[in-house]
Amino acid sequence: MSVTIKTPEEIEKMRVAGRLAADVLLMIEPYVKEGVTTEALDKRCHDYITQVQQAIPAPLNYRGFPKSICTSINHQVCHGIPNDRKLKNGDIVNMDITVIKDGYHGDTSKMFIVGESSVRAQRLVEITYQAMWIGIRMVKPSVYLGDIGHEIQRFAESNRCSVVREYCGHGIGKDFHEEPQVLHYGLPKTGLQLTAGMTFTIEPMLNAGKRHVRQLGDGWTVITKDHSLSAQWEHTVLVTDTGVEVLTLRPDEHALLENPPISQAV
Ligand code: MF3
Ligand code: CO
Ligand code: CO
Repeated sequence: MSVTIKTPEEIEKMRVAGRLAADVLLMIEPYVKEGVTTEALDKRCHDYITQVQQAIPAPLNYRGFPKSICTSINHQVCHGIPNDRKLKNGDIVNMDITVIKDGYHGDTSKMFIVGESSVRAQRLVEITYQAMWIGIRMVKPSVYLGDIGHEIQRFAESNRCSVVREYCGHGIGKDFHEEPQVLHYGLPKTGLQLTAGMTFTIEPMLNAGKRHVRQLGDGWTVITKDHSLSAQWEHTVLVTDTGVEVLTLRPDEHALLENPPISQAV
């Protein structure tokens, strides 16, 4: 399968799926608190997606994944499986939500800080968020994917964070993971050139330590090899004739499209 260009009808369905995925993150926020288990958060998301949204949680049974969302805490990079461990003060946790509605996928994740975390953790979370937005704001026809990866990497590394290489963003639509691969590192003027109608995710994973990762014996959870903290944010975007539409945008984020975050070291 090559990169698909979505029709106007498909784009409308992607908008709906994207909005639903964003809504799950809004819904779950008040429950991401000290003492809650990630299993309880998974159940809330599952019930909301299936009963309220009348949609499908895409991770459930995807290649054998056992839960409806991914929850990745502290040195967990991605694909954490919700379980009976309680969130504790200072944890940083990524909640990754993918819903299928009317045959189309919306995929988005954000970091939550439980109570009060270390300044180091807060800084990693903030730099990763800015790195994602640097990538998103570059999206428009004729830009190369390598341009985007390069700028994300440059920003991350200039802030003394490393970029995970083994996992990347992806085309999305009827399938959860479509072509192209969207690397969060790379070289300018390399890779695919964007055209209007493409839909894909940008979802950088940044580590406070070295970039190397390994997978746990559960077959899913990815952690940093050096046990340093890791953060990730994700949006699903559409390439428009003039630029980008963020299909999973939350209300608090409207200003970020127009007003770039400070792209200097913080
Ligand atoms: N949502 C993840 C992504 O952003 C994929 C999770 S696959 C799962 O691509 F099986 F772990 F859910
Ligand atoms: Co994704
Ligand atoms: Co995701």
